[in-house]
Amino acid sequence: MIHLNGEFMPIEQARISVLDRGFIFGDGVYEVIPSYSRRPFRLPEHLARMQASLDAIGIANPHPAAKWTELVTKIVAGNPWEDQSVYLQVTRGVAKRDHTFPKGLKPTVFLMASELVTPSAELMKTGAAAIVLPDFRWLRCDIKATGLLPAVLAKTEARQKGAYEAWYVDDEGFVTEGASTNAWIVTPENVLVTRALGTEILPGVTRAGVLHALANQGINAIEERAFTPAEAYGAREAFITSSGAGIVPVVKINGRQIGEGRPGPTTKRVQSLYRELWEQEA
Ligand code: PDD
Repeated sequence: MIHLNGEFMPIEQARISVLDRGFIFGDGVYEVIPSYSRRPFRLPEHLARMQASLDAIGIANPHPAAKWTELVTKIVAGNPWEDQSVYLQVTRGVAKRDHTFPKGLKPTVFLMASELVTPSAELMKTGAAAIVLPDFRWLRCDIKATGLLPAVLAKTEARQKGAYEAWYVDDEGFVTEGASTNAWIVTPENVLVTRALGTEILPGVTRAGVLHALANQGINAIEERAFTPAEAYGAREAFITSSGAGIVPVVKINGRQIGEGRPGPTTKRVQSLYRELWEQEA
């Protein structure tokens, strides 16, 4: 069951106009919210980020947070899986094709859910591989925009090369983030490093949750700063975070083994702290 513009229906019945600016221009924003045991995780944080994305591109939020929460709750209840990935999209609406957008369009609102497919137990146990690619995206990666062509190409290239994720590297030679994840390393001095927030990366809800969980534990060996692939090659551990995949160990980057080549203690600690955070908040 999906929700489209005020109505709930089976996905096969959902129809949008071919003039929807989301279809024509990718003129819209989205969120992916994990729902474990039918409880959406960190929904207020996702709704706040969606508000920031909408503000950044000048679409008035069609619903207050309470209404969004109601819609998400209904979608989760109306679908068969215990663990779901809830997808929420708002586009600028339907108009004659023209780059400039007219005022007063009615945004298109779409929600769907799918079974939450987390990485396999095998991958979590052995760890994933990543490749690095030039960051060929635009300069507002803080906006969760639906135009995901770079991620589509980068992830496909990663898979073709036997890797799970692609890490983008900016013009100065620093890792920004993964194609659909935030990137982390653990230095030889046991400091956790992830890029600072800015327009170059998406402010990941999982990233923020991990930082929150670490702060709760009084763990302060954390640096929010840029790092290079070379620093990552010499790291003890690496991992990636996202709402879809959770916290996934990375044990190989561009064919180079990271640390001991298997998920390390810090990554495992972060995974268990994140599980505890879910238990507290659910
Ligand atoms: N991707 N960076 C990028 C570029 C992303 O697309 C995502 C999420 C993240 C992680 O953010 P969060 O922890 O809030 O999920 C970082 C989603 C899951 C997707 O596109 O499917």
